[in-house]
Amino acid sequence: MLSRVAARALAAPSAARFFSASAAHQTKVAVLGAGGGIGQPLSLLLKSDPLVTSLSLYDIRGAPGVAADVSHVDTASEVKGYAADQLDQALEGVKVVVIPAGVPRKPGMTRDDLFNTNASIVRDLAAAVARVSPEAHILVISNPVNSTVPIVASTLEKAGVFNPRRLFGITTLDVVRAARFLAGVTGATPDQTTVTVVGGHSGATIVPLLSQTAYGKGVTGEAYKALVHRIQFGGDEVVKAKDGAGSATLSMAYAGAKFTNSLLRGLNGEKGVVTPTFVKSPLFADQGIDFFSSNVELGLEGVEKIHPIGPLSAEEEELMAACLPELKKNIEKGKAFVAA
Ligand code: NAI
Repeated sequence: MLSRVAARALAAPSAARFFSASAAHQTKVAVLGAGGGIGQPLSLLLKSDPLVTSLSLYDIRGAPGVAADVSHVDTASEVKGYAADQLDQALEGVKVVVIPAGVPRKPGMTRDDLFNTNASIVRDLAAAVARVSPEAHILVISNPVNSTVPIVASTLEKAGVFNPRRLFGITTLDVVRAARFLAGVTGATPDQTTVTVVGGHSGATIVPLLSQTAYGKGVTGEAYKALVHRIQFGGDEVVKAKDGAGSATLSMAYAGAKFTNSLLRGLNGEKGVVTPTFVKSPLFADQGIDFFSSNVELGLEGVEKIHPIGPLSAEEEELMAACLPELKKNIEKGKAFVAA
C-alpha cells in the first residue's frame, strides 16, 4: 500500500520519472548560479521534485526571470528569484544550497583551467552560506570539484561552522554516464548497470569500479579500456560537440537534481539511500587525501556512513594509482587558495 504522499508523487507525471517522495517536510532549497546553463534546467527539475517545498533562485544575472518562469509550473513549491545584491536574502532559512555558479569549459580546457575564475566565486558564496545559513547542506557543482569542495570546507572552517557531514561534491554525472555507457556496450538497460564511481571528478581521478558489477565484469580488453576512457572523459564529448558554447548542462542538471533528491530523502529519514559523492573522507586520509568520492549513505544529518571502496581488479588498482596523486594535488591547491 502506497502512502498518500508517495501515491501523489507517482501520480504527478513530472515527478514520476526519477523523483521519489517519502515524507512531507519543509525543505527550502537554494540554487546559486540559477541563471546559467545548468542552473536553469536544474531549477526546473527541482521545481518538479515533491520533496522541495520552497525554491530560492540566485544569480548575479537573470535569476528573477528564471524564477518567474519556473514558478508557473503546477507543483506545490514556492519559487522566488533574487538579484545580484540579494544573496543574503536568498540564503535565509535554506536547508540545502546547490552551487552551479562559475564559468564552464571551452574546447581544449581541463577542469583545472577553470580554477582561477571559479575558486573565488565559490569561496565568496561559501562565506555567505557560513554567515546566513551555517546549518545548510552545501552541494558543489562548480568545477574543478576536486578543488572547489576543499575551498568550501576551508572557508567554512575559517568561519568556525564546518560540518563535514553537510558538504558534498556532486559527482553524480560520472555515475549517470557510467551506467548509460555500460548499458550501451552490453545491451542491458541503465537500471541494470549501476556503477560505483570513486575518486574525484576530473579525468584520471574518475575511477569506475566496473569489476563490482555483474555487467561490468564481462567487459574486457580493448572494450574495457575504451569504456573506462569514455567514463573518465565523457565530459569532453559534450564540450567538443557544443563547440565553444560550454559543457554539459542538461545531463548535469539531471544529475544534480537526482543527487539533491537522494539527499532530501536521507534528510527526511529514508533509510538505505546510498550514492557516490565527494566528501571529507577518512578512506585515504593517511596518504594526505582527505576528500574522496565513494559510496556514501545519506541520512538525517547528511553523511551517515562512508562506505569503503571494496575489492579492486588489477586494472582498477592501476586506475587508483593514477587517481590518488592528481587528486591530492587538486585538493592541496584548493586549500592553499583559502589559506593564502
Ligand atoms: P554558465 O556560464 O552557463 O552558468 C554559470 C552561471 O553562474 C551564470 O549564470 C553566471 O551568471 C553565474 N555566476 C557567476 N558568478 C556568480 C556568482 N558570484 N554568484 C552567483 N552566480 C554566479 O555555466 P554552466 O554550464 O551552468 O556551468 C557551471 C559550472 O558547473 C561550471 O564551473 C562547470 O564547469 C560546472 N560543471 C560541473 C559538472 C559536474 O559534474 N560537477 C558538470 C558540468 C559542469
